[in-house]
Amino acid sequence: MSKNVNIDWGNLGFNYIKTDLRYVSTWKDGNWDNGNLVEDNKLAISEASTALHYGQQCFEGLKAYRTKENKIQLFRPDQNSKRLNNSCKRLLMPEVPEEKFIDACKQVVKANEHFVPPYGTGATLYLRPMVIGVGDNMGVKPAPEYIFCVFCVPVGPYFKGKMAPVNFMIADYDRAAPQGTGAQKVGGNYAASLYPHLLAVKRGFADCIYLDPATHTKIEEVGAANFFGITKDNKFITPKSPSILPSITKYSLLYIAKEYLKMDVEERDVLIDNISEFKEAGACGTAAVITAIGGIEYKENLHVFHSETEVGPITKKLYDTLCGIQIGEVEAPEGWIYEV
Ligand SMILES: Cc1ncc(COP(=O)(O)O)c(C=O)c1O
Repeated sequence: MSKNVNIDWGNLGFNYIKTDLRYVSTWKDGNWDNGNLVEDNKLAISEASTALHYGQQCFEGLKAYRTKENKIQLFRPDQNSKRLNNSCKRLLMPEVPEEKFIDACKQVVKANEHFVPPYGTGATLYLRPMVIGVGDNMGVKPAPEYIFCVFCVPVGPYFKGKMAPVNFMIADYDRAAPQGTGAQKVGGNYAASLYPHLLAVKRGFADCIYLDPATHTKIEEVGAANFFGITKDNKFITPKSPSILPSITKYSLLYIAKEYLKMDVEERDVLIDNISEFKEAGACGTAAVITAIGGIEYKENLHVFHSETEVGPITKKLYDTLCGIQIGEVEAPEGWIYEV
């Protein structure tokens, strides 16, 4: 670490901290400019930007990890690049070439190296890439200009102490329409989730689970994370649907379950009326890696999986293996790790 920063690494949460430099590139007249690192953390954009009025924007989230050898590495940024471009396509925004995306992420990590938490703290450097429609525009149509920006903040581990299960309730709302934008990481999905999240928290749950918007019979997402369950005969099951955001953590766990833990894996419908098929269940995503699901409330009944207080053994093994890969302690499959 080159510079010293005054951060209590052990007590970081998931809060905004202004780091030194962020990457900004502008698209105009059909091309992205080269982009550069800037100190200013304020974007000056037109009051008529489509990102502000029509939600023409998308974002990503990924982390940089410091290893025991004091190297810094990114976990599968190529997958975030693909997902960002898929979101861009859906909202008629220009795609960001993968090379440019990964280079921007690396530049931001390098320029803020002293904000990458030390190995062993469980804390990481969270990167937030985004593409927003800007420029002067009034009608509902694509923006004349775009900004691609990547900033970073050091964040704490999701679980400060021991990993503990939490309970969820089934939402009375949908987060996505059947042929809508559920599979893209666009801001509107998150704006729509704030109210159901608040209702769940008010009732003492960690968050809500969204069922499929067409029939409300199948599990889709657990708050802003994907669902997985372990069946009584040790299969790793995760829902398949065009309105789920394809979680990079989920597909990594699926691979780990199959190749490292030698489990059978399946992507298929997960019926809410059949959740007793699972002995363990979890929510997965970049923020927490895995949050074990203690129980799910559905129709006034709390269904408990492994336990409301203890994490199941397979969930724990999946968690330890993926975290080990991310911090360089477990050998990663080829192409998963990008050294900065
Ligand atoms: C709605 C939603 N589902 C799932 C995920 C998990 O995706 P990932 O594992 O790529 O972080 C996220 C977070 O990005 C999310 O916002």
